[in-house]
Amino acid sequence: MNKKDIILLGIESSCDETSAAVSKNTRILSNIIAGQKIHEAYGGVVPELASRAHQANIIPVVTQALKEAGIKKNEIDAVAVTRGPGLIGSLMVGVSFAKSLSAALSVPLIEVNHMQAHVLANFAIHSDDAKTPEFPFLCLTVSGGHTQIVLVSAPDNMQILGQTLDDAAGEAFDKIAKVLNLPYPGGPLIDKYSGQGNAHRFQFPESNIPGLDFSFSGLKTAVLYFLKKQLAQDADFIQENLYDICASVQKTIIQTLLKKLRKAAEQTGIRHIAIAGGVSANSGLRNELKKLAELSGWNVYIPPLSLCTDNAGMICIAAYFKYLQNDFSTLDLAPQARLILQ
Ligand code: KG4
Ligand code: ZN
Repeated sequence: MNKKDIILLGIESSCDETSAAVSKNTRILSNIIAGQKIHEAYGGVVPELASRAHQANIIPVVTQALKEAGIKKNEIDAVAVTRGPGLIGSLMVGVSFAKSLSAALSVPLIEVNHMQAHVLANFAIHSDDAKTPEFPFLCLTVSGGHTQIVLVSAPDNMQILGQTLDDAAGEAFDKIAKVLNLPYPGGPLIDKYSGQGNAHRFQFPESNIPGLDFSFSGLKTAVLYFLKKQLAQDADFIQENLYDICASVQKTIIQTLLKKLRKAAEQTGIRHIAIAGGVSANSGLRNELKKLAELSGWNVYIPPLSLCTDNAGMICIAAYFKYLQNDFSTLDLAPQARLILQ
């Protein structure tokens, strides 16, 4: 191993995924994710159950991450952890664990903003031909809790140009999936069924918010009322038309996102465009973005699927930039449910 190589252990526990990863510089050596099936039955994440599952998962997940990376505890240069935003009880598990481990190993502790980490996932070297963004670039960060267009001038300099005024894009996918009787989280299922549906079959309204902000609550309400009306005439309407409904909803969400992204690119003159967050795993969004990039002459950066949804690999990448700046935290670090992008 090169002496200058920086080995980091990253921990992510902000929502319902317990994840640990090991990185060498910006290369991810392992990225273990334990999902929590328990929330499916409730149609959403139950915070107390999430905290308990993190508590049960964290040691096996970290052990597995080190094993898969072939790294021993005494080779770790720093322990990185998500400080927020997220569910406070869930964050508490990861932060407490990371603090203890950094103290026990006498290595620095690095706190990471989860939303910054989603953006910086684009810098992971995941394959020999991995392409990383040039600064400044725009990032459309779309997750279960956030929808943001971010101007990224440096790893520690991000400015939100536009964001959702109500529901996040992922939340829109999940809430609409719920009215379609699909299990939580519904986003990936809507994506899957859309592949077999006709996206032009049903027309749903796109929000008309000025500037670069978004709104998705109107779409959710429109779908709800549309279904109520159809179900009054045909009780099997959803089953009979599921794929077309999914495709039409997905198309509307993607169009809304890309319209604002195009506007942001026009306003800033920036042609380096990245996407991040759980919804960036959506196959329709990835395909439409590639087409738009070709038309607009953009350089696009799309993380591999494993780095889109919540994972600790992205925590390692964000922490790597902080490590280079000696930007370390102290043991009085406390998690923060609401943490703004700086
Ligand atoms: O980034 P993430 O894993 O967690 C948060 O930080 O919120 O994002 C989770 C969100 C969920 O709303 C989930 O339904 C959505 O990402 N999602 C998708 C897809 N995969 C995950 N939405 C649409 N299509 C997908 N393929
Ligand atoms: Zn996330």
